[in-house]
Amino acid sequence: MAEPTFDLRNVPKADAYKELEAQLSAVLEGIDDEIASMATLSALVHNAFGHLWTGFYRVVAPTVLRVGPYQGTLGCLEITFGKGVCGTAAAERRTIIVADVNAFPGHIVCDARSRSEIVVPVFDSTNRLIAVLDIDSGQAAAFDDADRDGLEQLVRWFARR
Ligand code: SME
Repeated sequence: MAEPTFDLRNVPKADAYKELEAQLSAVLEGIDDEIASMATLSALVHNAFGHLWTGFYRVVAPTVLRVGPYQGTLGCLEITFGKGVCGTAAAERRTIIVADVNAFPGHIVCDARSRSEIVVPVFDSTNRLIAVLDIDSGQAAAFDDADRDGLEQLVRWFARR
């Protein structure tokens, strides 16, 4: 049985993400299911850091993202590529860190308490974009390069399948 989720807020981020990767592999051992994996990753990351919103938007048409498994308050259902932080990350196929969401032109407000955000593209084994991982924090400038590295490593799970 996997370890229960730990609060990793007081652990250096690089170590926290290593711990999360170990938990993710343990929980998902033998599982080959995108939705189960997205749900598990969201729950682990959300509770480890106490984020406001943690979850996936899936690519369901060439330029449409639709909400997938997530933790937090109600998320908007669909986002077009190029719109908001999620749509921009999807269109540009790169991680975007927003220190102050109010300063990001076109930011889509789902939870008014959100202050900062990171969106990480998720690729499959053929380098096709299948989703983005979106995380919102109630604190300004909550995300840095350690989050980018850690989260990009975590979502590589979807390229291993
Ligand atoms: N803020 C995001 C929209 C998704 S919600 O925050 C869950 C954006 O601008 O893409």
